[in-house]
Amino acid sequence: MMSDYSWFEGIPLSPTWFSKEIMEDVCNKFVVKEDDLIILTYPKSGTNWLVEIVSLIQTKGDPKWIQSVPIWDRSPWLETNRGYPFLIHKEGPRLMSSHLPIHIFPKSLFSSKAKAIYLIRNPRDVLVSGYFFWGKTNLVKNPDSLGTYFEWFLNGNVPYGSWFEHIRGWLSMRKWDNFLVLYYEDMQKDVKGTIKKICDFLGKKLGPDELDLVLKYSSFQAMKENKMSNFSLIDKNLIPNGLNLLRKGKFESDLSIMICHHSPQENWYLFTKDQLLWKSTLEVDCCCHMLSDSFTSDFVETYFSAFELKVVLVELEVSM
Ligand code: A3P
Repeated sequence: MMSDYSWFEGIPLSPTWFSKEIMEDVCNKFVVKEDDLIILTYPKSGTNWLVEIVSLIQTKGDPKWIQSVPIWDRSPWLETNRGYPFLIHKEGPRLMSSHLPIHIFPKSLFSSKAKAIYLIRNPRDVLVSGYFFWGKTNLVKNPDSLGTYFEWFLNGNVPYGSWFEHIRGWLSMRKWDNFLVLYYEDMQKDVKGTIKKICDFLGKKLGPDELDLVLKYSSFQAMKENKMSNFSLIDKNLIPNGLNLLRKGKFESDLSIMICHHSPQENWYLFTKDQLLWKSTLEVDCCCHMLSDSFTSDFVETYFSAFELKVVLVELEVSM
């Protein structure tokens, strides 16, 4: 069991992968180059799926690269002890991933012409995915239940801090030419359309057969079977129990949950299972809702009092 996080600029991080020295260099010294492509996400939002798609777009659907190079070397994770040294010595156009919130991302991004893709997933699935992914590892404090983890999530006491702040921060970039915002739920609904959108953004053209190959090799099943992408190669000295990256890969907000989040400066944030609402609301003023089909007022009241009107959680039913 891990004792606690290392904190950097108010953000909790796992000491297994991060050090203060590297984080300081990343934030203050890292130079983003014009031809960099940066994949930005809050953890558990489909980062690796997007990396797989982008990798395949770069090879025009040829799976050799994704089947021979681990995903963390194809798109190194900028802020980690492993990724940072790799990236600063890498020549040519770089592909990289980061979960950093905007306020500690290297400032050079904002004056460069580098491209960045920000992928958002609904918080309910992010929360559940995170709970199963690292809840029983040595990477975070081990929550005794999903309810405990939920509370930590809403307080931003999980890796990379508050989902709400992350989304709000990065969405402020959404009008930038070189910034593409994608939604995990949209990718689920129309992967092909999303791949085309990414190609347009990157100025790449794929023929119909190439597009089909990207689709085929980035599917949930293909990724689950690809040891370069499914995290089975993770260093067991670091993570003794391993990590299960591809758990379900679904949009599950029809399960019973309702989350309301209140921040002192803002109004209530509500999440609805209606995709259009949660998305358009997010785009307007970053409000989110996920309504439940089956919440009970008892539950609401219990949670209202427990969290001082900050949070409502309704019957979180989750299966592995
Ligand atoms: P679940 O835990 O809900 O299954 P990240 O890469 O940011 O850590 O996100 C991991 C989540 O993305 C996991 O969600 C995983 O199943 C999902 N995912 C990964 N590859 C996917 C794919 N090819 N299709 C759909 N979902 C995928």
